[in-house]
Amino acid sequence: MFAVHLMAFYFTKLKEDQIKKVDRFLYHMRLSDETLLDIMARFQAEMQKGLGKDTNPTASVKMLPTFVRAIPDGSENGEFLSLDLGGSKFRVLKVQVSEEGKRNVQMESQFYPTPNEIIRGNGTELFEYVADCLADFMKTKELMRKKLPLGLTFSFPCKQTKLEEGVLLSWTKKFKARGVQGTDVVSSLTNAMRKHKQDLDVDILALVNDTVGTMMTCAYDDPYCEVGVIIGTGTNACYMEDMSNIELVEGDEGRMCINTEWGAFGDDGALEDIRTEFDRELDLGSLNPGKQLFEKMISGLYLGELVRLILLKMAKAGLLFGGEKSSALHIKGKIETRHVAAMEKYKEGLANTREILTDLGLEPSEADCVAVQHVCTIVSFRSANLCAAALAAILTRLRENKKLVRLRTTVGMDGTLYKIHPQYPKRLHKVVRKLVPNCDVRFLLSESGSTKGAAMVTAVASRVQAQRKQIDKVLALFRLTREQLVGVRDKMRVELEYGLKRDTHPLATVKMLPTYVCGMPDGTEKGKFLALDLGGTNFRVLLVKIRSGRRSVRMYNKIFAIPLEIMQGTGEELFDHIVQCIADFLDYMGLKGAQLPLGFTFSFPCRQESIDKGTLIEWTKGFKATDCEGEDVVDMLREAIKRRNEFDLDIVAVVNDTVGTMMTCGYEDRNCEVGLIAGTGSNMCYMEEMRNIELVEGDEGKMCINTEWGGFGDNGCLDDIRTQYDKEVDEGSLNPGKQRYEKMTSGMYLGEIVRQILIDLTKQGLLFRGQISERLRTRGIFETKFLSQIESDRLALLQVRRILQQLGLDSTCEDSIVVKEVCGAVSRRAAELYGAGLAAVVEKRREDQGFEHLKITVGVDGTLYKLHPHFSRILQETVKELAPRCDVTFMLSEDGSGKGAALITAVAKRLQQARGEN
Ligand code: BG6
Ligand code: BG6
Ligand code: GLC
Ligand code: GLC
Repeated sequence: MFAVHLMAFYFTKLKEDQIKKVDRFLYHMRLSDETLLDIMARFQAEMQKGLGKDTNPTASVKMLPTFVRAIPDGSENGEFLSLDLGGSKFRVLKVQVSEEGKRNVQMESQFYPTPNEIIRGNGTELFEYVADCLADFMKTKELMRKKLPLGLTFSFPCKQTKLEEGVLLSWTKKFKARGVQGTDVVSSLTNAMRKHKQDLDVDILALVNDTVGTMMTCAYDDPYCEVGVIIGTGTNACYMEDMSNIELVEGDEGRMCINTEWGAFGDDGALEDIRTEFDRELDLGSLNPGKQLFEKMISGLYLGELVRLILLKMAKAGLLFGGEKSSALHIKGKIETRHVAAMEKYKEGLANTREILTDLGLEPSEADCVAVQHVCTIVSFRSANLCAAALAAILTRLRENKKLVRLRTTVGMDGTLYKIHPQYPKRLHKVVRKLVPNCDVRFLLSESGSTKGAAMVTAVASRVQAQRKQIDKVLALFRLTREQLVGVRDKMRVELEYGLKRDTHPLATVKMLPTYVCGMPDGTEKGKFLALDLGGTNFRVLLVKIRSGRRSVRMYNKIFAIPLEIMQGTGEELFDHIVQCIADFLDYMGLKGAQLPLGFTFSFPCRQESIDKGTLIEWTKGFKATDCEGEDVVDMLREAIKRRNEFDLDIVAVVNDTVGTMMTCGYEDRNCEVGLIAGTGSNMCYMEEMRNIELVEGDEGKMCINTEWGGFGDNGCLDDIRTQYDKEVDEGSLNPGKQRYEKMTSGMYLGEIVRQILIDLTKQGLLFRGQISERLRTRGIFETKFLSQIESDRLALLQVRRILQQLGLDSTCEDSIVVKEVCGAVSRRAAELYGAGLAAVVEKRREDQGFEHLKITVGVDGTLYKLHPHFSRILQETVKELAPRCDVTFMLSEDGSGKGAALITAVAKRLQQARGEN
């Protein structure tokens, strides 16, 4: 009995001595709570640095955005392939995620070896090898030629700009294949798969880090899971960060998973005070010296080696094995993490230690075994402590992001060290709880690796891809091929000819209205004129003073509103209102009673027999006043003036806005023979040879023709390119079936087309969370100025989102991207259609004059042309493409068409006087 006690005493004493000895020797490896709190604070600062746009380039903890935005919600389903490369084992898997929300996942997998010559050889061969393994798997599982989406778990630091792409920043752990760093891993693997294109039909939809896969795997079972940690061959963590804190990615709503790559913590020297001589020696002998310094103090690939280096040093110092060193102890890698784990086993630990040391050719004493076991404990304890400090920093960040006093959360865990080491999990959990007492943390072991989670990410990606395809299908309707545009140009040309010919004119949709404007101003015009400008965005009354000789014009104008009820009331009300505005203007200018000649810009189709007569054929755009169609608008204006009986005016000319614009520009550039409006409405006028105008007597000289091309297509000739959305816009307009070309091209309708598309996409569940808001149902919300803002290149996504919010559309950033694309597709088509129409006219002019090349100027006006960031450029490019023999100069009308109308009035007045009338 006494002997037994003596033995026990002796053993306890021996143990104490050995432990003290080792503790003393490894003093630096034992980290106090204070130190851990300090490391935690340092890691918090590192995270902040990695997230900042300006600080990220120099941050050692890279905080990589993963483009994984949500944890699984149970709606994922389908069949997926998965590769898991970069941990201790390489696996290929097929994952079946069941439908009907039953959260049922079935996996079939196959391990493949990763020989050193492959993972440290040539990059191309590495990817070919991976593709070969995948092909083999498909063959074994009889999946050949089955089209499956693939999720790639790739456990290395990758810079991503989208989910299906990742540029390898640097190899870590055991991998070092040449020519891969700095390149996109997904395209390399896709290229490698081409070799098997007979058998493989695979689309890589997602690249995920193993931490992300682990988090998602665990989140599938526990929705509280928002952190993933790997303590295996390497170590790393990811967590869900608020988008508003991620400066490297546009957008601020929701969250995104950040792959911290915490293994690189300390690479900038931040941990030098806690690194030991053993850490430095291990680093020097590694594949990546100076890199992954935190990882090298923690993870499975390095733990055994640290123990070996310590034992060697202790033996050398005579503290172990009686100073004897076995030759095996000198060999790098001889002690592995599994050995460390075995030596630390609760009961068999000592026996295991003896066995392991003996295998190394040593003859350990009881004391040696106790000491070695304690070395292992210190090394692995330090590892758990360091992990705990960094994890505590992440948990604190999550708690602070959520502004909570207490955080309840789950951390998904994986990795061989965590799984096989007998004490590791317990130690880690305990230290984390001590460091963050205000977090209730659940640690959840990922039983099925990261693949299940990767499949969830792939499932979401595959749904997004399917949705993308639906969106693309809609946008494709607006993409016109060159052939289609040539077709539009040629049809327009036919319509222009039809409208000019007496026989075909009555049925022509492009009306080709003679304007009785026969020449350009010659600079001799002079006098004071009144002008009205009705039919564009603004109604204006102007006073225009023209001085002869110097081509100088002074203008005074006032904008008046025309309320909707007047635009769509009775003709008398409309003209009374106009006269009221004139009266106000004369009053305002101090011109009461002055009898001035007046030019009336009236931007609607009018049949004219002379310059001062214009019968409104039909209203277009937003006007619908009764009793006007078929009436002479000059008469209506005269009568309204008479009704008021306050002043008299000499109405000399009625001109279309295109004509006014051409004149305004023609005053400056004599080559200007075309007037173009891209505004509320769409129209064009040009100088035509009198001999071609069969409706007007005489063959000499030229006359301006108001084409009224807005009606192009009213006979169905554009039906092949009109979409359902164009038809919907038409049906909801004031003039259904009319002005079809205008409705595909002008400001008043583009926004409406966009709105119809958005409604449809929302119905399909592709936008605005599938909810069609009252706002979206409201006609006219997308005015030209908003479209122009949305499409501005200078605008960040967030600003686009803000505009949409101002419009009352509660959109996410993804929604904003789609809305911007829709606007872009609609306005591009409009500009191209304009270009095709204009090409027809300039080509006609060139041919009619028998020129090889034509130099011509087009005067342009209208809010669409002026405000839209891309419209004018696309329009000009299209004309160049479709009328290559015409050198077209575009001249923006700065002064509106009022100036042109006044010039026309001046010319008409001069002619009147010359004829002795008046
Ligand atoms: C596995 C995951 O379970 O754990 C891998 O499926 C991951 O994606 C690995 O890389 C990490 O552990 P280890 O020890 O294999 O590096
Ligand atoms: C103005 C002209 O500048 O542009 C008007 O003065 C013309 O006559 C108008 O109708 C066209 O553009 P919007 O965008 O106002 O219809
Ligand atoms: C290394 C890799 C990292 C990975 C970790 C765990 O640290 O750089 O991407 O997550 O190992 O496998
Ligand atoms: C409408 C009118 C037309 C006008 C154009 C631009 O198309 O019918 O006359 O020129 O809008 O304002």
